[in-house]
Amino acid sequence: IPLFQMSGCGGGASGHESVVTPLISPASQGADLPIIPMVDGSVDAAGTRNFSLVAQAGTTTFRSGVAAATLGYNGQLLGPALRLRKGENVAMHVQNNLGEDTTVHWHGLLVPAEADGGPHQVIAAGARWTASFTVANAASTCWFHPHAHGSTGRQVVMGLAGLLIVDDAQMARSTLPDTWGVDDLALVLQDKRFTAAGQIDYTLSASDRTNGYTGDVLLVNGALAPVWRAPSQWVRFRLLNGCNARALVLRLGNSLPLLQVANEAGLLAVPVARPSLALGPGERAEVLVDFSAMPAGQEVPLYASTAQGGMGMGNAAGATEVEAMRIRVSLPKQSNSISSPPNTLPAAAAVVAGPGAINRTFRLDGGMMGGAFTINGRSFDIGRIDFSVPANSVEVWTFTNATNMAHPMHVHGVKMSMLTRAALAPPIYEQGLRDTFVVEAMQTVRVAVQTAEVASATPLMFHCHILEHEDAGMMGQFTTL
Ligand code: C2O
Ligand code: CU
Ligand code: CU
Repeated sequence: IPLFQMSGCGGGASGHESVVTPLISPASQGADLPIIPMVDGSVDAAGTRNFSLVAQAGTTTFRSGVAAATLGYNGQLLGPALRLRKGENVAMHVQNNLGEDTTVHWHGLLVPAEADGGPHQVIAAGARWTASFTVANAASTCWFHPHAHGSTGRQVVMGLAGLLIVDDAQMARSTLPDTWGVDDLALVLQDKRFTAAGQIDYTLSASDRTNGYTGDVLLVNGALAPVWRAPSQWVRFRLLNGCNARALVLRLGNSLPLLQVANEAGLLAVPVARPSLALGPGERAEVLVDFSAMPAGQEVPLYASTAQGGMGMGNAAGATEVEAMRIRVSLPKQSNSISSPPNTLPAAAAVVAGPGAINRTFRLDGGMMGGAFTINGRSFDIGRIDFSVPANSVEVWTFTNATNMAHPMHVHGVKMSMLTRAALAPPIYEQGLRDTFVVEAMQTVRVAVQTAEVASATPLMFHCHILEHEDAGMMGQFTTL
């Protein structure tokens, strides 16, 4: 089943039809959903909140009897959720015990370029790196992952990814569920494939080089078809599409709507009921779900299928739906549970471009005959700065996709709001602050971009979040003057 419809050039690997690995439903072994551990760090005498991360090798048993080699932060697979508070000073201490270069990038955080953890902040094998910054983001669900040029895709598939949960005063005053792991649950969705011997398989075929790496099973928090015991009340899910390349459509069984309250960089202005939602690679969404009317013991599957493109495109033609996990409503209501969701949300102000704003255009192209995808005709060159932006200004960036497949575009270190998608104002669930957005095949998306407040000669990245496209050079860099 093709993820993206390929025809002619602009996507087909060597002319034959490219195929994305279909998802299969694993037989559920009824394993409990692993809860991503929440870490608060420790505040030192100077008031700085310190976190320690060790990137390390380990093993994980995905299927009984096989210990697969995996990578993790402070553990065998994936990493913790670090709780950050807007306005606080933070120091991230990273130790690289991988035996190879890595970086740790704070995806979505507005941090100085030197602290960003992009390809310029390489942490050599055995070395340590500290990133210091003040948390400037509005409340949101961000994440961290490696970003060493050329090895990002493999290191992420092997298990390196963690969460950044940003809180602020508005969120503290809201009634959104916030008891971690009880009524505030993070779900990291990632597909993988395995060798016959049960090891993670990251060999790239010609089709993978064009479409990105896709696996045949979808894991939730690193587990196959797990079960989560839910309280019978309103629950908040923080959803991360942590797949290298697969855009997902998610929906719940029993026709339970997903009440979306946030996209990746912050709250929406009002909650939006959605029968299903699509997330491109790197995108996040926060949703509320009401389990209070479910009889005790009722099970609700979370279904996933492959999106044809990104937001709002629906399922790829004929894409099979798999059960990613099950939610078993079996716990009593918490004493602090809400009886109804908020009608409005304290969204951060959108980025607004003035009439004299600088315009920049980005043409997404390439991918012909198995070749690399490009931005404005160029592949990434770590020695080349593509352009510079004035600090603390708002620009209009126009992304035109001249290929036949969708590309989830991501910009580091800036605040963005979507202005138009295919010349139309975006729906409410695409409004608010963004850091990643899908540009569908042959489509144009315009965003207002507020540049970093502080000038820096260290470049920031903009790239496709299909990690194999990024690793192959669908990335550029800019400095802030
Ligand atoms: Cu999530 Cu430049 O990355
Ligand atoms: Cu990023
Ligand atoms: Cu791409």
